[in-house]
Amino acid sequence: MIPVSKPYIGEEEKTYVMEVLASGMLAQGPRVAKLEERFAQLCGVKHAIATTSGTTALHVALLAHGIGPGDEVITTPFTFIASANSILFTGAKPVFVDIAEETFNIDPALIEAAITPRTKAIMPVHLYGYVCDMDALQAIADKYNLVILEDACQAVGATYQGKVAGSFGTGAFSLYATKNVMSGEGGMITTNDDAVAEQCRLIRNHGMKRRYYHEMVGYNFRMSDLHAAIGLAQMDRLERFTQARRGNAQYLNANLKTVVTPKVKDGYGHVWHQYTIRVDGGRDRDAAVKQLDDAGVGTGIFYPVPAHQQEYMVEEAGEFHLPVAEKLAKEVISLPVHPQLTQADLETIVAEVNKL
Ligand SMILES: Cc1ncc(COP(=O)(O)O)c(C=O)c1O
Repeated sequence: MIPVSKPYIGEEEKTYVMEVLASGMLAQGPRVAKLEERFAQLCGVKHAIATTSGTTALHVALLAHGIGPGDEVITTPFTFIASANSILFTGAKPVFVDIAEETFNIDPALIEAAITPRTKAIMPVHLYGYVCDMDALQAIADKYNLVILEDACQAVGATYQGKVAGSFGTGAFSLYATKNVMSGEGGMITTNDDAVAEQCRLIRNHGMKRRYYHEMVGYNFRMSDLHAAIGLAQMDRLERFTQARRGNAQYLNANLKTVVTPKVKDGYGHVWHQYTIRVDGGRDRDAAVKQLDDAGVGTGIFYPVPAHQQEYMVEEAGEFHLPVAEKLAKEVISLPVHPQLTQADLETIVAEVNKL
């Protein structure tokens, strides 16, 4: 089976972890600080704050911007559920806006109609590693004085007009085991705002600046040095791995014939966390997945049920009718695109998908 994702764990990951174990200092320490520095450099921002996961990075970032009960945050329904849940954690309400068919990302043309006096922020999600149309989003945010909180969990190193994901507003990344840069579990917040960064550091660590003096209610969302050690080894591979993903995606785009392949517009630097095709025209997606599975091609469905259609979400956020997201949720299939694919793997994927 060619797996849809395959984390790479090399000698460096093992060596760095053993160094932490040998040091006897396992909790948040110098490796976390180093990983934060590397992320800030990569994104071209002043601050990076590590957390335990992408989910906690989103949660902390929302809180640091003062978002809470009575507020609304505009986001996409076509995402991993953590995007919307992080909004609920704060007591605010997610307001879902439909996506653009060709990008899978929130459609900026539909956002203004969803803005109310309660709207405090827009949370664009750079799904699959493809940055949202940030010029359009920034113009709306400027006009209505809204915070932009990028869910860049799938988009480490992705660019738009030369700017890196996580540098448009406040950014949140996931370092979950299958992400382009991983630390097993982990998260990262990026920002140029000194006050937001300071809040994030407080919220991450029980509101504590001076040991056992607490300035506010906070959490323990600290990353451990063990996790950071893995992340540091991965950061050294990012550029090479992103190029490999791009090469694989290009090969698939050039050779797949029977399905809708993903397009990349000029000015966008896709990092291909996922390579997602569509079986359109009312074809049976489940049958296609089974056919690929039987042929040894791993697949993923990201995501089969849009966030606004999860049963509890209807109770929390109300009813939304979002036809594009609802249609695409029935059509998408993600194929292997990870850097460990061989040419033979790519040829197998193409041959089998072209039989659909
Ligand atoms: C778009 C998106 N948002 C949020 C998250 C949450 O990240 P984590 O799983 O690290 O909590 C993920 C990761 O799975 C994601 O893909």
